[in-house]
Amino acid sequence: MNCGKVIVSAKLAAAAMSEADNYVDFEIRSAQTSDAPALARLRYALRSSTGVVTEPKADFLKRCTDWMEEHLKAGGYWQCWVAESEHKLIGCLWLQLVEKIPNPRSEPEYHAYLTNFYVEEFARGRGVGSQMLSRAIAWCGTREVHAVILWPSARSRSLYARRGFAVRDDLMELLIADA
Ligand SMILES: CC(C)(COP(=O)(O)OP(=O)(O)OC[C@H]1O[C@@H](n2cnc3c(N)ncnc32)[C@H](O)[C@@H]1OP(=O)(O)O)[C@@H](O)C(=O)NCCC(=O)NCCS
Repeated sequence: MNCGKVIVSAKLAAAAMSEADNYVDFEIRSAQTSDAPALARLRYALRSSTGVVTEPKADFLKRCTDWMEEHLKAGGYWQCWVAESEHKLIGCLWLQLVEKIPNPRSEPEYHAYLTNFYVEEFARGRGVGSQMLSRAIAWCGTREVHAVILWPSARSRSLYARRGFAVRDDLMELLIADA
């Protein structure tokens, strides 16, 4: 995988500080297996902020760290990009390649499922998420990816729309379980 780093200077406002006073450098890079514990904490922050948690936090962090370590290993179907500031992860975006059945026509043989997209609250609205999304889309352009799919939240639709995502009327979904 290409682990080339993009250094981006951005203005990040800490919650209680004025925007003009607080500039922070952040870096977008591919995640490594050693990021798994921090990535599990970001996952917990994302999912616990949107619903009722039923699993003890420590149990979840252990289970999720193990899963992430395993799934970040090179050669798998999962990719992850992180935003790092002052040696701390402040955001992440995960992508899973979804294999298609071999096709005798000249069509790319993967789709990409984009998920677990999160930026710490204090850093939102400063372009961190957009930079990660750009990295993921650029990566797809270098692979055999046909389409990128995702489930947006109401608030994040504008971000995806700016990058060309559109609601389609030829895609169907069947909900098997309420979540
Ligand atoms: C979505 C998210 C990863 C974007 O990262 P970001 O660094 O804030 O994004 P950028 O600064 O590059 O772009 C700003 C855009 O992000 C989206 N955004 C900003 N705050 C958001 C929030 N609290 N929740 C969801 N989306 C948000 C909006 O589309 C915004 O554009 P707009 O202000 O023109 O409408 C980040 O806001 C976040 O973690 N939100 C909470 C979790 C979430 O909703 N994840 C996505 C689920 S599909």
